[in-house]
Amino acid sequence: TETDLKNAHDLLVDIAMDGGKMMLEAEHEFLIIAATKNNTSDVVTKYDKQIEAMVENRTRAAYPRFGFLGEETFKHGTKLADSPTFVCDPIDGTLNFSKGVPNCAISLGLTLNKKTVVGVVYNPFRGDLYTAIKNQGSFLTKTMTGTKIKLPMQPVPPPMPDLNACLVAVEWGNQRSGPNWALRTDVHNKLLTSKTEGGAMCKSVRSNGSAALDFCYVAQGILDVFWEGGVWIWDVCAGWIILEEAGGIVASANPGDWDPTLEGRLYFAVRNAKREEQKAVVEELWNIMGDRKF
Ligand code: IPD
Repeated sequence: TETDLKNAHDLLVDIAMDGGKMMLEAEHEFLIIAATKNNTSDVVTKYDKQIEAMVENRTRAAYPRFGFLGEETFKHGTKLADSPTFVCDPIDGTLNFSKGVPNCAISLGLTLNKKTVVGVVYNPFRGDLYTAIKNQGSFLTKTMTGTKIKLPMQPVPPPMPDLNACLVAVEWGNQRSGPNWALRTDVHNKLLTSKTEGGAMCKSVRSNGSAALDFCYVAQGILDVFWEGGVWIWDVCAGWIILEEAGGIVASANPGDWDPTLEGRLYFAVRNAKREEQKAVVEELWNIMGDRKF
């Protein structure tokens, strides 16, 4: 029910605020990296693990029958269930966090039938709290002032006739070889290359280092498009509903397929605009990818 979702939302906001505090308090130990995973860009700090443990304990205590899927404790082969499941990225943008770049966030979602119904993304360094509940809109709360803004921010951004008018977020991920890497670099290259003399495929690209925040920025309307091949469910779960509730759309190579074991983890997100404009931009992105689907 609506009340159930509101209760889950309130719990996730509470947890996110506490997780954010842990991130802020970690300031003097930023550079301590507990381990690198696949390579030097794939890092984990002790705070990722501590925050995830806190999130898991608190969600399990409040909702003992719900599932839990978190980045740090994920075991390959685990499938997302239809039953209610909390999905947690304790720090999205860990590399930024470990260097002290203030673009990182705790990202918490609740899924039902493999779709997000509640999403909370909190960047404590900017005091930006993004939240959404299914069918109830999405909001940005500036925690430093308490201001709550409905998304997308008004006035809504101007028309988006084609990709040429778009500021596009891309991310580099943490794989540096293989087919996903080849697709990524090829798409980034095409996004930046002129299609006509003097014109570019899009306005420019940005790589902010947190897929969860990229989704929120597209929801907000300050970025037009997000494209990444290779994200995981915990990177985009909360951002997904924040974007959709703000009138944005998510297009995927594997629609509705949240199987985190899949190698194909490709998402485009397009901001609030007229349907025809959103569709035109999605078409262009498909064209850029050619037949190279995940
Ligand atoms: C990563 C960030 C990064 C994206 C990667 C993600 P993490 O999340 O969102 O921007 O390129 O694909 O895995 O590892 O910092 O939680």
